[in-house]
Amino acid sequence: MTAEDWSPTSWLGKPAEQSIDYPDPAALAAAVQRLHSLPPLVTSWEIERLRQRLAEAALGKRFLLQGGDCAETFDSCAPDQITNKLKILLQMSLVLSQGIGKPIIRVGRFAGQYAKPRTSLTETIGGETLPSYFGDLVNSPGFTPEARRPDPQRLLDGYAHASMTLNFIRALMSGGFADLHHPEYWDLAFLERGNLAPAIRDAYLAIRGSIASSIDFIERICETPINELHRVEFYTSHEGLHLPYESALTRRVPRREGHYNLGCHLPWIGERTRQADGAHIEYFRGIRNPLGVKIGPKATPDELLRLADTLDPGAEPGRLLLICRFGAGKVEAALPPLLEAMRASGRRPVWVCDPMHGNTITTASGRKTRPFESIAREVQLTIDLHRAAGSVLGGVHFELTGDKVAECIGGASQVTEADLASGYESPTDPRLNYEQSMELAFAISERMNRG
Ligand code: PEP
Ligand code: CO
Repeated sequence: MTAEDWSPTSWLGKPAEQSIDYPDPAALAAAVQRLHSLPPLVTSWEIERLRQRLAEAALGKRFLLQGGDCAETFDSCAPDQITNKLKILLQMSLVLSQGIGKPIIRVGRFAGQYAKPRTSLTETIGGETLPSYFGDLVNSPGFTPEARRPDPQRLLDGYAHASMTLNFIRALMSGGFADLHHPEYWDLAFLERGNLAPAIRDAYLAIRGSIASSIDFIERICETPINELHRVEFYTSHEGLHLPYESALTRRVPRREGHYNLGCHLPWIGERTRQADGAHIEYFRGIRNPLGVKIGPKATPDELLRLADTLDPGAEPGRLLLICRFGAGKVEAALPPLLEAMRASGRRPVWVCDPMHGNTITTASGRKTRPFESIAREVQLTIDLHRAAGSVLGGVHFELTGDKVAECIGGASQVTEADLASGYESPTDPRLNYEQSMELAFAISERMNRG
């Protein structure tokens, strides 16, 4: 197929992995029709600005920090949870920008991260089999036939919750919360309560202090406020799993070529849905947004080249992000051949490390967790492998929260398997908590600075 054959719904002619069987197709069509008539959540200007920023990340001039929940829930659309997620990303970005000396591109894995791919499409408990929970955009987690029945009304609820979340983020950002003069606004209560290891706390406070005084200094010299640098930028992303939802938010905009997904700035394709001839690749190839593709340890160089040719035929700077999620034990074998294949083809994608999804283990009591040490090790090895190959790591992708949960084990605060019993809140994958996220930001800075 050529680009002329593409339309926001041409994916309907292709096989779709993880597609949802709605018991009432007319209700689905009505919900999609309604979504189609609602206003966009983001603009093409913002998307194009992000693309320019990502083009610089591919060249090593900026660094991407993408993070948030594995699965956002409608219940988590609440003021404290949203501000805590923003705060942890803003704090990590301070540490990273000081540590690695590059501007940071901040992308939340939220304001729309409501659809989840599942390894098993059904779940069986005590002889009863029901559809799996596919995220709040589709059904709800309780194990009853009513809860698990896919409900098209949830598509409209998902849009509404994404919109409320984004509205609050935009208000905070423009209302002074993101003012670089006051990084102390981003502190989480844990900082005061002394929950952070003293060395990390002191290092963070030193960075925070130096930013405020550097800005004062420049403003004194220039005798004018730094309006351009005044506020930080923030972008949104989610997995573009649910194609009826994604295509309903795909629009043309005046004075620009092509179609944009205006439901978020940076949609990505999951590891389970990136089949070369599948519906997701068909949908994504036609939109103008920058795109992420998750890449697991079995991906071959040929497969990757084919994906890149389909999704980014013009090798446009900032268009394609390869989000690698191999696992600490596999990254050394998996990454170098892919780096070499891309280099030989003349492409410069944004290489991103997701050290979460290849490091998931199940505890004896049946909980999914991730050892902090494996997560840190995969990022560190990735940094070293890029350096050895003369390539650039353009960013990182984490599942994290600003709340004090116990979902990943280890780290300086030594979360144990026993802690998971009371501190686990994620309905899907385990997230780094506040302290683990900060510790990781320092570990990344330290490794990137090793020459
Ligand atoms: C995810 O990002 O939550 C996810 C399901 O990742 P992957 O597609 O890499 O498995
Ligand atoms: Co996940």
